Order: sequence, then C-alpha cells, then structure tokens
Amino acid sequence: MTQAQITRKAPHDTAKRVFIKTYGCQMNVYDSARMADLMAPYGFMPAETAHEADLVILNTCHIREKAAEKVYSELGTIRRLKAAKARSGSRMIVAVAGCVAQAQGAEIMSRASCVDLVIGPQSYHRLPELVARALRTERARILETSFPAEPKFDHLPQARAPRGVTAFLTVQEGCDKFCSFCVVPYTRGAEYSRPVAEVLAEARNLVRQGIREITLLGQNVNAYHGEGPNGSEWGLGALIRGLAELPGLARIRYTTSHPGDVDDELIGAHRDVPQLMPFLHLPVQSGSDRVLAMMNRRHTAQDYRRIVDRLRMAKPDLALSCDLIVGYPGEGDADFRQTLDLVAEIGFAQAFSFKYSPRPGTPAASAPDQVSEEAKAERLTVLQALLRMQQRKFNQACIGRILPVLLEKPGRHEGQLVGRSPYLQSVHVAAPSDLVGRIVPSLILDAGASSLAGSLAGPAVA
Ligand code: SAH
Ligand code: SF4
Ligand code: F3S
Repeated sequence: MTQAQITRKAPHDTAKRVFIKTYGCQMNVYDSARMADLMAPYGFMPAETAHEADLVILNTCHIREKAAEKVYSELGTIRRLKAAKARSGSRMIVAVAGCVAQAQGAEIMSRASCVDLVIGPQSYHRLPELVARALRTERARILETSFPAEPKFDHLPQARAPRGVTAFLTVQEGCDKFCSFCVVPYTRGAEYSRPVAEVLAEARNLVRQGIREITLLGQNVNAYHGEGPNGSEWGLGALIRGLAELPGLARIRYTTSHPGDVDDELIGAHRDVPQLMPFLHLPVQSGSDRVLAMMNRRHTAQDYRRIVDRLRMAKPDLALSCDLIVGYPGEGDADFRQTLDLVAEIGFAQAFSFKYSPRPGTPAASAPDQVSEEAKAERLTVLQALLRMQQRKFNQACIGRILPVLLEKPGRHEGQLVGRSPYLQSVHVAAPSDLVGRIVPSLILDAGASSLAGSLAGPAVA
C-alpha cells in the first residue's frame, strides 16, 4: 500500500475530520501539526472536539508515570464516543501516537480494545497509508513502532504555519545521552539532525506565512550537527547565525539543551546575534555531583556554574530556566541541600521541578534505594517555594523597565494584547489589534507570579 493509493481530496471536500490531542513537550506540539498537515490532502480537516471526529489521534508523553496514565483514562472516554458513533452507523478510527505508543505499543493494544492504530514518532510519514489500511478493515489492529533507516523528515509535507506569529521548528530529534532516569532515548531513538538547507527552507516558508519568532526544537537541540553546504557540518550556533539572515524573522529561541553540548559557537551566537533571545532553558536536574554521576548526566554542578558564567559573560542579561528532579534513587538530605544551594546561587527566572518517577526499562527504575514518596513531596515543596520566590523577584525587577514585546494575540480584556518579553514572560499590553505581530516597546507597570502588565511606550520597532 502506498500513499498514492489513497484518494487525495481537494481541501474543500471536508467529508472527514481529524481531532488530535497533544500531551507532553513542544516536540509533540510540532509533530501534531505535522500529522494534521499530512492528513489534510486526504480530506481530513481539523475538528474542534473528539465528538465530531472520524479520526482521533492521541499524541502521548511517557516522561513521567502521570503523563503516561493520562492516555489510558482518555482512551476510556474515546471508547464510549467510538461506541456511540458506531451505534449511529459511522466509524471512528482511534490512533495512539507519541512516546507511550513507542514504549508501550503492545500494552496499549491489549489494554484498550478501541485502538485501531499505534504509531511511533519515527513513522508519522506513514500515517495516511496506515489510516487508509485501518479504514479498509472492519477491526483494524495496526502496530507501527519501528525505527526506519530513512528519516521521516524526508517524507513530511511542508509545514503550514500555525495561526499566530510564533512557530516551532524541529531541527534535531532523539537522544544519545541515556540519563539513567529518562525514557527519551528509548522512545525517540538515536540523535538525528536535519540538514541545514531543509531547516532554512522550512524557516523561510514560515516567515513567508507571517511568522516572526521561531523556536528551534530538539530533545537535545544543542547537540545539533546538521549537514551544511559543501560537505560541512553546522552546529546550533552556526544554524542560528544562518537563520538570523532571513529577512522578517525577528526572534529566534531554542529548547531543550544539555549543558554538555554548550560550545563556544553557541555562546558566540548569544553574544553576537541580536535576534537570539536572551533566555535559555538549560536543565541541570540536581546540584549534587554524587546524584549527577548516578544520573549519568556527564556534568558536575561546577561544570554547570562555569557554563552559566561563560554564557553570562557573553550575554549579561541572559535569563535562565531549568529542569530539576527531586528524590532520585539514593538522593539524601545533603544532596538535596546542594540542589537548593545551586539554585540559590544561579538564580532562575523560571524553572520546572519534578518528583522522580520510575520509568519502566530505565536503569534508575530498578535502583534499590528509592526515595519515599513523603520525602520527595517534602523536597519538592521546599524547592518550589525557592523557585517561585526567584521567579517573582525576576518579574518584579522588570517593573519600570521598557521591554520590547512581540505582540501575539488578543489578551483577556478588551483593548488588550498579549505577547512575550525577550525573557519569555507573558506581557499584557493595552494596544490596538493591528499591532499583532509587531514588536513594541512596553513600559512594565506590574508583575504577577508568571506574567507582566505594561503600556505602549513608543511606536513598533520591528
Ligand atoms: N532533553 C532534556 C529534557 C527532556 S525531559 C534534557 O536533557 O534536560 C524534560 C524533563 O523531564 C527533564 O529535564 C527532567 O527534569 C524531567 N524528567 C525526565 N525523566 C524523568 C523522570 N523519570 N522522573 C521525573 N522527571 C523526569
Ligand atoms: Fe533524557 Fe535529556 Fe538526558 Fe536525553 S539528555 S536522556 S532527553 S534528560
Ligand atoms: Fe514526553 Fe516524549 Fe516529549 S516522553 S516530553 S513527549 S519526547
């Protein structure tokens, strides 16, 4: 069966609808958009709810137990919808995609009889063909979780820009780091970087469609080493410089990075490229070298401090964000205190922190010295109080400053737009709607826990 055997339909023939529910990280958001792009030529238009859909795709996340469990509870709801649809004489195809599909494909099949198709992240280019196959059989049970030799990107259609002025662009996928707590190397496979020309073409296309800000994505995005012109290899720093030459692209961001892959070229880009925003999500996970070694992070707390120092030397106003895990097996009170010390010392503008969640198949899951749920909860409370305090302090320090804000969409109140500061804070600004997509100087008047409020302080600058 090839894609050519499915009837391509004109876009106005909206006989069928697809509903995609996305869990997890930004890469899943990007992938969901690509799956929608893939199905559109076959007459599948986006549906607002699962009720009205002929094809439901759950794009799942396996990173922590709670994330994975959400899928099974959602499938309970979908099963009832599918049964109701069948009673009224129509068919609903149910597909599970994403990282749970990759890690637990067979288990999904046996636990959830309503699922027609399980498709892993490296097989999305085959979605139309597999949906067509499912439609041809009354009781389809298709499991596609192989890691194809050829990258799926070679077969994906051009990305249609999302509504709005910002977009994600996946440049790197997979991970070779194997941190001992993490499922990503198993669910996304080996590291792969898209060729430079392909990335630039996609970016150009997004900018043509009105996108002003692009966030480059990868599970480990600064491990990027894409094939450049004339057999060269470009790192992320070079790629950012290349993107900065696109007229109309006002802002560049990237996420998520690993401290071990921050190189001189990337630090140089932070120093030299004005479009690269002064905000960096750089997960550290722990402040204890003992725990970092057990986690197989391949960096120490001191390495992290040094990298941050070098970055701040290159870009003094760089704001930092990170991920932290509490209660990794074997973590004691002294280790946790070192995490608090590191956080206090660095000062984060924002951060995500999690209780360690044992993931099947990862080395840490079978470690003997698991930390009690009680200790994890206690440590998380203490850590989050510190992080909240730092975020508040960072936001409050913005009051009275004039920040360039890229206005993205209408705000909560009439006559108000909401956008982002260079430091990724949401900023509500009283402004007319024709300023959407423009960067305006905004005087920051107020700061909440996670957003700012400001007023226009001059004409648009870009
Ligand atoms: N590639 C990124 C992070 C990917 S996962 C990096 O290298 O840092 C996003 C975050 O989820 C991780 O940074 C980590 O803090 C958290 N995480 C991953 N596995 C986890 C687990 N088993 N339990 C709790 N948190 C976890
Ligand atoms: Fe997971 Fe990130 Fe470690 Fe890779 S580098 S194994 S994605 S935490
Ligand atoms: Fe989750 Fe997979 Fe992203 S496990 S965080 S959806 S890479």
